[in-house]
Amino acid sequence: MPTKIEKDAITGTDTTGHEWDGLKELNTPLPTWWLYTFYACCVFALVWVVLYPAIPVQGWTGITGWTARGAITGEMETARARTEPMLARLRSATPEQIAANPELRAYAIAGGRAVFANNCAACHGAGGQGARGGYPSLADDEWIWGGDLAAIHLTINHGIRNQDSDEARVSMMPRFGVDGVLTRAQITDVAEHVLGLGHRSTDAAMAARGAALYAENCASCHGERGEGNTDVGAPNLSDRVWLHASDRAGIAAYIANPQMGVMPAFAQRLDPALVNMLAVYVHSLGGGR
Ligand code: HEC
Ligand code: HEC
Repeated sequence: MPTKIEKDAITGTDTTGHEWDGLKELNTPLPTWWLYTFYACCVFALVWVVLYPAIPVQGWTGITGWTARGAITGEMETARARTEPMLARLRSATPEQIAANPELRAYAIAGGRAVFANNCAACHGAGGQGARGGYPSLADDEWIWGGDLAAIHLTINHGIRNQDSDEARVSMMPRFGVDGVLTRAQITDVAEHVLGLGHRSTDAAMAARGAALYAENCASCHGERGEGNTDVGAPNLSDRVWLHASDRAGIAAYIANPQMGVMPAFAQRLDPALVNMLAVYVHSLGGGR
């Protein structure tokens, strides 16, 4: 159908020539304010493309050379320059010296809290309260590997049972069940004795048989009365703090097939100043020795 452009009698505006059931479409021109705003936007965009990064060719276009990445790098440099003198002091001091100096200690605890949130909280909980599945609390006064500043510092630097560091803490509890060192009945007996170490045994005969097995197989690491030994990372078995299950069946299962904890080493990942700060922070959580 040929389009017929004509003037609308009422408004005096051209029609587009489209017509539906007698209704004609007007070809109203764009408002001037709208048009000029549009042109201004085009000009702005062109100027922007010339000045700022817009097209990724050989890096980025833009004659000013400004980039968001460059801007943040600059800010970070400034921030680093501001904190570097303090970090240098924290790097060259020992954790003991930091803990003894009120200014360094305050800085280490505030900074250590942030570093802990980023690197440790996933396993040890936000406040170091520990987590199920063998992640110990760092806020109580039971220590598997030692709770003085030097011991904590060493644990953080080298980790536990990992491939990251030759100086990682290692020790292996034998797999008494899986490797057939003890029979199932003997394991049940020794588990009963372990319950007895925390005054929870209910079967004196079993516990008595277990005591003999314990003295022979377990006391060398866990101590005669189950007090634990930080030299070999053997936890205290006579208190209420448990890394793994604490009921009769859970303890027996652990003795049969121990699942030992692994912690990564941080010496290669974190600035020594941060490791020092972490040691002081963890020591301050409540149970430091
Ligand atoms: C991937 C999990 C994981 C991460 C991340 C981790 N840890 Fe651990 N950490 C463990 C486990 C598991 C143990 C207990 C190992 C064992 O059973 O001997 C442990 C033990 C420790 C101990 C010894 C506790 C004791 O009772 O002697 C300290 C101290 C410690 N972690 C501090 C830290 C700090 C500080 C960080 C962060 C820099 C950190 N950990 C990051 C898993 C982790
Ligand atoms: C060579 C040293 C060694 C010997 C021997 C040993 N253990 Fe252990 N045991 C460990 C270590 C190390 C751990 C901690 C593993 C970890 O950190 O995850 C442990 C953990 C445990 C746990 C878990 C504690 C908890 O808090 O959940 C129990 C229970 C236990 N041992 C019982 C025994 C019994 C019973 C025997 C003897 C039949 C025994 N162990 C012999 C080193 C030893």
